[in-house]
Amino acid sequence: MANDICIEFDDVVAGYKDFMILNNLSFKVAKGSITLLLGPNGAGKSTVLKTLFGLLKPRQGRILLNGENIIGKSQKELLAMGIAFVPQGRNLFGQLTVFQNMELGGITLGTKTTHERIPEVLEFFPRVKERLHSQASALSGGEQKQLEIGRALLLRPKVLLIDEPSIGLSPIVVQDVFKLLKKLAAQGTTVLMVEQNVKSALKISDDAIALESGQLVLHKKASELLADPNIERLFLGGGHLAGTVAAPAPAPASADI
Ligand SMILES: Nc1ncnc2c1ncn2[C@@H]1O[C@H](COP(=O)(O)OP(=O)(O)OP(=O)(O)O)[C@@H](O)[C@H]1O
Ligand SMILES: [Mg+2]
Repeated sequence: MANDICIEFDDVVAGYKDFMILNNLSFKVAKGSITLLLGPNGAGKSTVLKTLFGLLKPRQGRILLNGENIIGKSQKELLAMGIAFVPQGRNLFGQLTVFQNMELGGITLGTKTTHERIPEVLEFFPRVKERLHSQASALSGGEQKQLEIGRALLLRPKVLLIDEPSIGLSPIVVQDVFKLLKKLAAQGTTVLMVEQNVKSALKISDDAIALESGQLVLHKKASELLADPNIERLFLGGGHLAGTVAAPAPAPASADI
């Protein structure tokens, strides 16, 4: 049903300068679901999240959040609408303390609310909580990623965009993060996640979308994909997906962003 849709990409064409990366991409994400974005390196997965978060302006198409076109909105406006983004890689201020990094995550909330929420969020990440006044750069890689996720959760996001959260995390912490995402989704947060840890991620996801060269090549229930005997070949052995569904024609590469 239309009113159950949280995120909609409608014929989106986006890229960097003259290189179009997303080619007529259309998909829908249901409210309170976890959708896993799959595809080989360079397929455009991070570009989808960056475009949703307004870091890249599409040349064509619409991106709807609860039915409202959000193209052209600033990050501040998007944060205020409840979208939080945890990008791929490391995104902390290493010279600042854990606490100060958390405070920056709450910049749109005001100091009082931020200070109330910091201990609440860090309950999920006890190792980080113990290091509240350490420099962020002194945390282990996995602890830094947990801090980044915690910083995003301060906003109590309605939509969480999370790019490869498991990189550098030990398996037990990955499971904790996945459980947390599941809990957030059960509370109504819509999660759009890129993750190479395909099997584990599918287990907590509702839907799976696969891209190849910026085109949608598969959109299925995660449970269906998990049960697919070809999953190993498709996602774990570098197999190609093109042809799984009819792919739309590429867009003309004439954009200038
Ligand atoms: N800032 C940029 N300027 C120019 N090209 C870019 C930029 N960022 C990404 N690209 C190109 O866009 C394409 C898609 O990149 P993207 O980061 O979305 O891929 P991805 O699916 O997230 O890959 P990975 O699994 O390696 O993270 C790649 O060919 C990449 O080289
Ligand atoms: Mg990426």
